[in-house]
Amino acid sequence: MTAPKTFAVKSFGCQMNVYDGERMAELMAADGLVPAADPAHADLVVLNTCHIRERATEKVYSDIGRLRKDAAKRGAVAPMIAVAGCVAQAEGAEIVRRAKVDVVVGPQAYHNLPALVAKAAAGEAGLDTDMPVDSKFGHLPARRRVGPTAFLTVQEGCDKFCTYCVVPYTRGAEVSRSFAAIVDEAKALVDAGAREITLLGQNVNAWEDEDGRGLDHLIRTLDRIPGLARIRYTTSHPNDMRQGLIDAHRDVESLMPFLHLPVQSGSDRVLKAMNRSHTTDSYLRVIDRVRAARSDIALSGDFIVGFPGETEAEFADTLRLVGAVGYAQAFSFKYSPRPGTPAADMADQIAPDVMDDRLQRLQAALNRDQAAFNAAAVGRTCDVLIERKGKLPGQMLGKSPWLQSVHLIGNHAIGDLVTVELVEAGPNSLTGRMPGRIAA
Ligand code: 5AD
Ligand code: SF4
Repeated sequence: MTAPKTFAVKSFGCQMNVYDGERMAELMAADGLVPAADPAHADLVVLNTCHIRERATEKVYSDIGRLRKDAAKRGAVAPMIAVAGCVAQAEGAEIVRRAKVDVVVGPQAYHNLPALVAKAAAGEAGLDTDMPVDSKFGHLPARRRVGPTAFLTVQEGCDKFCTYCVVPYTRGAEVSRSFAAIVDEAKALVDAGAREITLLGQNVNAWEDEDGRGLDHLIRTLDRIPGLARIRYTTSHPNDMRQGLIDAHRDVESLMPFLHLPVQSGSDRVLKAMNRSHTTDSYLRVIDRVRAARSDIALSGDFIVGFPGETEAEFADTLRLVGAVGYAQAFSFKYSPRPGTPAADMADQIAPDVMDDRLQRLQAALNRDQAAFNAAAVGRTCDVLIERKGKLPGQMLGKSPWLQSVHLIGNHAIGDLVTVELVEAGPNSLTGRMPGRIAA
């Protein structure tokens, strides 16, 4: 196989994968490859995979098959294929054996991607699913050009071992990046065009520096970077919500009033079987403390319906919890058995039609609350960070502090912060108007 000249990265799953995908693209570019004008015709395709739910592995194999079939249809040589991300970590050499891909690289080893690609070009499959002690971050090129909103991984891995979850196996143990490396990368992102940075981690609020200082200290430091207007962070665990971080929501203006705090279930028996190590009550008390610090905070969550053994009454407890919190938005999923996790072998797996029904009812409740949250925002004046052009002439799209999509008519540049009055709300977005204007 000849050395590839063009590349495309296709990321699936979470925001951390989006971040990893960007860093892999930067690595390939630093190695002299250019992004393919048409990703479907790239010499090298990196599939940056997700293993969290559903038939992730099968999907990767069918994607690989499709890439090859499409190339054959065009009479082109099949692209070099690199499988990265959590399926690469979980499946390892099995992917090389079964699909004859050229490169398999895990989430903690992708700094070696250029070397693995060179190896593959020389005719030998490149495989690296190590989780080195010396982290990949020190080997990645500097950030150069990003949009107005950027992700920054500050913490990776998880030690919580919820019984349904593959993350502790695919991403490894909880590791915090160093304070200095994060501050440097944040400054580079701002120099490269970012106005908003979202700090990422599987348990981002467990981030700690060498001296035991927590995420609030990092946020207070980033707040002083000139040009950085907004800071967000995700995903948090209820048990790691320290008072310092809650206080930062009261004190730090650039820290946006939004908190993604997964709860998964409203039943204490299910939470115990999930090994969540919190109860519905301790979760609600955290939320009370957060709201006491920042009364307008928008809350988001993750839910799993149909965990093994979940009864109708236990599901009703989840609906009750949703009613008690009033989420601004949330994600909900049907339980999906993950190979190698304890819950996959539990008795009383729930029938698919029962899961479908519960998911529908949960989503109806969450949608109702999201629409109510949006409706309650009408009349507020807030800043909107412009992210892109809309479909209509003169229309721009951006985000409110509460992470709502806002569209407005105006002559703004991407990356502008515009003060608007929210004048109309739909279930998924709002309309903003410049104060003093009659029409939106
Ligand atoms: N099945 C369904 N949903 C899951 N999640 C994690 N593992 C599973 C699983 N096996 C959901 C959780 C988590 C989110 C990222 O994905 O809600 O918070
Ligand atoms: Fe998975 Fe639980 Fe860790 Fe979240 S806290 S990544 S759900 S094991």
